[in-house]
Amino acid sequence: MATLVITGAASGLGREFARLGAERGFSLVLADVDAPGLEAIAGELEDRGSGVLAQRCDVAVADDVARLADACLARFGAPHWVFNNAGVGGGGLLWEQPLEDWQWVFGVNVMGVVHGIRSFVPAMLERARAEPEYCGIVMNTASMAGLINAPLMGVYNATKHAVVSISETLEQDLRLVTGQVRAAVLCPYFVPTGIAHSERTRPAHLARPDTRTLSQQVAQMQSERAVASGKVSAREVAERVFAGLEAGDFYLYSHPQALGSVETRFADIASGCPPADPFAARPDIRQWLRAQLRQSDRTATGSNGNR
Ligand SMILES: NC(=O)c1ccc[n+]([C@@H]2O[C@H](COP(=O)([O-])OP(=O)(O)OC[C@H]3O[C@@H](n4cnc5c(N)ncnc54)[C@H](O)[C@@H]3O)[C@@H](O)[C@H]2O)c1
Repeated sequence: MATLVITGAASGLGREFARLGAERGFSLVLADVDAPGLEAIAGELEDRGSGVLAQRCDVAVADDVARLADACLARFGAPHWVFNNAGVGGGGLLWEQPLEDWQWVFGVNVMGVVHGIRSFVPAMLERARAEPEYCGIVMNTASMAGLINAPLMGVYNATKHAVVSISETLEQDLRLVTGQVRAAVLCPYFVPTGIAHSERTRPAHLARPDTRTLSQQVAQMQSERAVASGKVSAREVAERVFAGLEAGDFYLYSHPQALGSVETRFADIASGCPPADPFAARPDIRQWLRAQLRQSDRTATGSNGNR
């Protein structure tokens, strides 16, 4: 029986990966900082007969991920698929983002992926050497924010570009040493999940200042509305991911139709002109952002028209 490791398994995309993995017959190793949420999904899948190892794990902490890998190896051996999926978001004008945001979001989104690769890949390669029929995949969840750069999302954008880079390099490195383990990267667009409420999992030692700047309030409103308005469900994304991995895809998308913005970015890079608005198809969004940020009373208000 194949084993699937999922970080950020207590909510959103990770929880749907777990449900679909169980339906496909995987044994599951589920990790999250949200212990009650993790217990709930683990119980649900155990009740349906799946083998589940659920462990509280902060992916930003190297020792936590190493312990997760040890527990996985002890119970199931080296896993077949590893989804480094846990992620958090936050926003605002770049120069107003507190250092705590940079540390927290980089810790989870970037170092979480790094820790997953360092903790699992050596055991996967060892199993590949011992079992000629073994095939492994490491899939990292990035974002369309790893391919384009929308305003007010500077910290998140930087982390997701790093995840795309790490994933592409991982694929190159793996190809040098094996044909049995490969990498993939998921770049979702807006999908209704808990991502706009990431603050719920922020650790106390990286608490942010109590008051939000105007740009941080505007970014929060924009993020909540964009995520809530997503038309592709987390379940549909999970189905696309499994189908893409089975087909051998490297880049996985929730909304392939959004790739026009990436092509525009590449054209801007090649021509040297400043980056175009990644939301050019929705000029009302930029208009709303500008109106909010240039107002005099310094309190975010109103609708940005996201539906
Ligand atoms: N939903 C979207 O619109 C969207 C778009 C692009 C990318 N993504 C990415 O998808 C991934 C999954 O997010 P989601 O949308 O399902 O959001 P979500 O908030 O529903 O789920 C994220 C999960 O990660 C967990 N988590 C947070 N910090 C953690 C940590 N330090 N260690 C372990 N677990 C931690 C949370 O508890 C939560 O269960 C993230 O990497 C996110 O950046 C989401």
